[in-house]
Amino acid sequence: MKARQIKPSVYWVGAIDWDRRLFDALIPLPDGTSYNAYLVQGSQKVALIDTVDPSMTHVLTAFLEEVPAIDYVIANHAEQDHSGSIPHVLAKYPDAKVVTTPKGKDMLAALLLVPEDRFITVNDGETLSLGNKTLEFIHAPWVHWPETMLTYLREDKILFPCDLFGSHLATTELYITDEGQVYESAKRYFAEIMMPFRTSIEKHLEKLNGYRIDVIAPSHGPLHDKPSFIIEAYRSWVFGPPKNIVVLPYISMHGSTQKMVEHFVGALTDRGVTVKQFNLAATDIGKLAMALVDAATLVIGTPTVLVGPHPAVAYAALLANALKPRLQFISIIGSYGWGSKAVEQLTGMIPNLKAEVLAPVISKGFPREDDFKALVNLASTIATKHKERGFAR
Ligand code: FEO
Repeated sequence: MKARQIKPSVYWVGAIDWDRRLFDALIPLPDGTSYNAYLVQGSQKVALIDTVDPSMTHVLTAFLEEVPAIDYVIANHAEQDHSGSIPHVLAKYPDAKVVTTPKGKDMLAALLLVPEDRFITVNDGETLSLGNKTLEFIHAPWVHWPETMLTYLREDKILFPCDLFGSHLATTELYITDEGQVYESAKRYFAEIMMPFRTSIEKHLEKLNGYRIDVIAPSHGPLHDKPSFIIEAYRSWVFGPPKNIVVLPYISMHGSTQKMVEHFVGALTDRGVTVKQFNLAATDIGKLAMALVDAATLVIGTPTVLVGPHPAVAYAALLANALKPRLQFISIIGSYGWGSKAVEQLTGMIPNLKAEVLAPVISKGFPREDDFKALVNLASTIATKHKERGFAR
């Protein structure tokens, strides 16, 4: 593949990872991903914006065969899927300097052992001239680590935001052609990577209001030549109110919790509440994360295993706690045989979720009339609270 031109003297030189199915040994990638790097050739200097995952250094190297000099490697983010090929680039171009934030320098030195004398650090708003092209650096901590920055190419009005606005999607399309597909991939990306940092993203979106942006060129997935598509999507995920949705991750071992889930989902549906139900024995955990972006309420369903919640349920609770969705209400339903501390243990796993806890419904053995009534009451409480807050679909 040849380098792909975005604007005159600005090229995509990234790698498409069709086969990757897990990121950070945690996040499912059903549609693969890409590591986008960009070459900006000014009249006097040449910059490479981000690199690629070390597993695909050879792809970047092939693009760089025709590039005699690189003066700057712009490191927007120190995570290895973008920085991992920096040592190779520095070895190939002995005069090249890594341009990054002060925190980025610290992290790249620690993670990749980049020597001190190869760095140039830049402040927020600082610019770097490549001759007829100017790079402006916008400090943007926590998208996705504390050292992150965005790079804005002034003359061409291209924003290179690295992880921000990205999507885990392997495609040969340089720009978005299927908005529905990219919306799904970008939402999955937001849910798994960006959701814990909503407050920071809110500030960054405000800051970007001051820039005219013709193209957003993230470091994962296709580019946005209609930036309002992804900016508006982010606005709705970050600023929008939660929706009239209950997310219900659960496990059932012998059918008791399953029966409770079925009754509860029916009661919620009868009351006009949308339910997104996830059997954790089979679900794609990324789908669960995506559902949490919009939901007003989380209800966790668990049987009791060795006095506590089922380990798969504990995992889902810990994940929800880490992702910090904008939940307003939480509850737990489930069952036990001879004794249970599942409710106490599960609530102790979700301290980050600043939501009102609604009375749990726990059945001894197979659910009976009183348990079904309690489930209906819980469904009614949720429906009423959603209505009072004005949550709509
Ligand atoms: Fe795509 Fe935070 O790395």
